[in-house]
Amino acid sequence: MILPIVSYGNSILKKKAQEITASYPQLHELIVNMFETMYSANGVGLAAPQVNLNIRLFTVDASPFAEDDQSAAGFKKVFINPVILERSGEEILFEEGCLSFPGLHEGIIRKSIVRIKYFDEDFNEFNETYSGIRSRIIQHEYDHLEGILMIDHLSSLKKMILKRRLKEISVGLVEAAYKMRFAARP
Ligand code: NI
Repeated sequence: MILPIVSYGNSILKKKAQEITASYPQLHELIVNMFETMYSANGVGLAAPQVNLNIRLFTVDASPFAEDDQSAAGFKKVFINPVILERSGEEILFEEGCLSFPGLHEGIIRKSIVRIKYFDEDFNEFNETYSGIRSRIIQHEYDHLEGILMIDHLSSLKKMILKRRLKEISVGLVEAAYKMRFAARP
């Protein structure tokens, strides 16, 4: 089932999400729905708050980047209760998008390497290190669980320049090729 994606301006995107247990109701179904929703929107990552759930879970599939970064091929995963343990390496500027900000693409600076622990859908624990596009996507989605959005990484000047556009996104005055839930109707 395809779920509506919450737009910028909804308060759930600013909240810190909560950990879940293995007995979280219909967890498997939720994961299936999140992948379906992510693929239908041509996304490479989707965090639970973006489908209006305040829980620490995100899905990723970096395959569309496989041509530029071989390690992205087949990188399809769900991260549950993730904790970023360390960010290292050089700071890299990369143009990011976000399904909660249709049409917006901005250069965001992030560290190149991330070490993360998390649980998979069977609640097996992993502790892994990623670089390249995988690290980029993980850090973007992890931010969503902390209530941090990509625009929070921009300078206040840049945010001011984008103010009108952000307002338009929040009220639904944007083109999105997927079903969205906007903050307020114009
Ligand atoms: Ni996002």
